[in-house]
Amino acid sequence: MELLKQKIREVGVILSDEVIKLDAILNHAVDPALTTAMGREFARLYRDENVTKILTIESSGIPIAFAAAQELNVPLVFARRKKSLNTETETYCERVPSFTKGIVTDIMVSKEFLDEKDRVVLIDDFIANGDAARGLIRIIRRSGATLLGLGVAVEKSFQAGGRTIRESGIRVESLAKIASLAGGEIRFE
Ligand code: G4P
Ligand code: NA
Ligand code: NA
Repeated sequence: MELLKQKIREVGVILSDEVIKLDAILNHAVDPALTTAMGREFARLYRDENVTKILTIESSGIPIAFAAAQELNVPLVFARRKKSLNTETETYCERVPSFTKGIVTDIMVSKEFLDEKDRVVLIDDFIANGDAARGLIRIIRRSGATLLGLGVAVEKSFQAGGRTIRESGIRVESLAKIASLAGGEIRFE
């Protein structure tokens, strides 16, 4: 998606060979026009799949997931990171390691909001190693819902997440693929 790449070039701050800060559009501030355009693109890609639900994880996935849900006229569900007051039998919980943060977090979705009748597109802002995505995929599998595929704004294709998930047979659509951040330069695929 050309508009997204252009914005990444404009506002991206390269923190290392592996991490690009995109606070201005994804992780701290939201660009409504860009977000709407991303939602429209995800919706276009999955329009013919009879999507019943968009799933994401708090927090940065929510605006783009909302935009996609709005376009497809389906509900959005976001996995939560904090413990809920519900007992474990009422929620799907998965433990997810974070490469960038070096910590492990528990993510959860209430069984109320995901079941075997759902046809789900998983939306997120970044895919790096894919640990968050794999946690969400496990939750979808456990719920019995059908996973139609992923939609991610930014895929860092020099990290293995997108590739390994595709290799497992799951559709992965990314709107911008960053092949390299080496030498302080953004190289798109
Ligand atoms: P992974 O899930 O794909 O393995 O990635 P990782 O553990 O590295 O992701 C940890 C968090 O960092 C995620 O946000 C992810 O979206 C984000 N992230 C990964 N690489 C980059 C990067 O190069 N730039 C930026 N800006 N973010 C990156 P999160 O923990 O889900 O936090 P939130 O933003 O959703 O609150
Ligand atoms: Na993030
Ligand atoms: Na995210």
